[in-house]
Amino acid sequence: MEHFILDICYLIASVLFVIGLKMLSHPDSARKGNLLAGFGMAAGILATIFFHKNDAGEPIGNLGWIIGAIIIGAVIGTLSAKKVKMTAMPQMVSLFNGMGGACAALISLEEFSHFAASPEHSIGTGLSIMAGLIIGSVSFSGSMIAFAKLQGIMEKSPRLPMGNILNLLVIIATLAGGVYLTLSPDTAPAWMLYGLFGVSLLYGIMFVVPIGGADMPVVISLLNSFTGMAAAFGGFLYNNQAMLTGGILVGAAGTLLTIMMCRSMNRSLTSVLFSAFTVTGGGGSSAGVTGSVKEMSVQDAAVLMSYSNSLVIVPGYGLAVAQAQHAIHKMASMLEEKGVKVTYAVHPVAGRMPGHMNVLLAEANVPYEQLKDMEEINPDFPSTDVVLVVGANDVVNPAARHDQSSPIYGMPILDADKAKTVIVMKRGMNPGYAGIENELFFYPNNYMLFGDAKKSIEKLTEAIGAL
Ligand code: TAP
Repeated sequence: MEHFILDICYLIASVLFVIGLKMLSHPDSARKGNLLAGFGMAAGILATIFFHKNDAGEPIGNLGWIIGAIIIGAVIGTLSAKKVKMTAMPQMVSLFNGMGGACAALISLEEFSHFAASPEHSIGTGLSIMAGLIIGSVSFSGSMIAFAKLQGIMEKSPRLPMGNILNLLVIIATLAGGVYLTLSPDTAPAWMLYGLFGVSLLYGIMFVVPIGGADMPVVISLLNSFTGMAAAFGGFLYNNQAMLTGGILVGAAGTLLTIMMCRSMNRSLTSVLFSAFTVTGGGGSSAGVTGSVKEMSVQDAAVLMSYSNSLVIVPGYGLAVAQAQHAIHKMASMLEEKGVKVTYAVHPVAGRMPGHMNVLLAEANVPYEQLKDMEEINPDFPSTDVVLVVGANDVVNPAARHDQSSPIYGMPILDADKAKTVIVMKRGMNPGYAGIENELFFYPNNYMLFGDAKKSIEKLTEAIGAL
């Protein structure tokens, strides 16, 4: 009977994961989806604690330790999720992802002794243990490096001479060790398991250290899929359907997200992993750009926007830094009351994490119908009266379309420069994430409105209200 209840709980957990993931694909349902998947996870954990029996029919022991660890983990998770700033979300994702990888690796370390001591060594079990150990360790150490980079603790991305060959040798050594331990678990020396653990950790470090710049989110998403796969191998090992489904979903979603991000940045996965993202550094205007940077006053911008027919707002990383999402929604609503058609153009990699702008704008209750994807909005720019760029930079840099020497060449961009007038709100002339000058700022139809985005929007709103 208990086994039946356990299976039903795992089935319910798996179904909730699938429905939750599906609901995450739309801002309206994302919060509920997250909650549903959380319920699924809770069902899986509680069912395992209360209904799981080992082969001898004994229930799970060490309940005090398990419940203590769950409470500590839940408190740390809740507090850090509440405290984290939106701008620090990618590093938090990376940190938590690393913990998942570490769990999978620790499970394998623990289960190997049971596997080695069992009278028959099933190759399937051995391979699941080794895959969990290797992939989980790579994911853990790689995620810690990604966290250190995004947190600014580690600033350089050095590439060792012949780094790719060294990486290949480490992979070969890791795979050879994994195969040997699978085939001869009882005769392999004890150090070998820990040696394999160490080499896998080393590979994770060597894999992520050279990667930098705009390629970091792609790597985090890839590491995410690694953790999913490592957890899925744990599911095989324990014949635990909830762990298996959860792991496969994370693995598949992470892989798809990696592919989509590569497409949005026009980078191939191999170039992300094996060649450096070159940053040319800010300063001086970009090649071939002539003209000067013109400023526009708050008053002039307010008049221009109020008397335009159409306004497209392009949010970027600066919107997140300034936390200007509520302010921009308030200003947009005021303009709509004046008869201006307002839409938001959302670039797939605007900000610092997938869906960053969607999350911010949803938080401010911007109607979802006003959010337009890049493919949908780009044909509309030539007939748009005013584009208001709020803290975005790389995603509207026309150099991506034509300057082959630019590190962002080939990245699809929002064609904001094709509108009649562009107003760019940012604090100064600092470059964006890619570290390059933006030639849009020198175009004849472009005007800069310098200042913190939130403060500038508040001033604009006041001026629009007074018209
Ligand atoms: P960025 O190109 O990074 O530009 C952001 C701009 O915001 C900066 O130039 C900065 O200029 C301005 N800014 C910062 N704080 C501000 C504030 N308080 N008020 C007003 N402006 C402020 O942003 P983007 O256009 O969103 O492009 C995203 C970039 O990040 C792309 O290169 C993308 O490849 C990369 N990336 C994306 C992701 C994902 S998945 N979304 C993850 C990592 C990296 P000032 O300092 O002069 O104000």
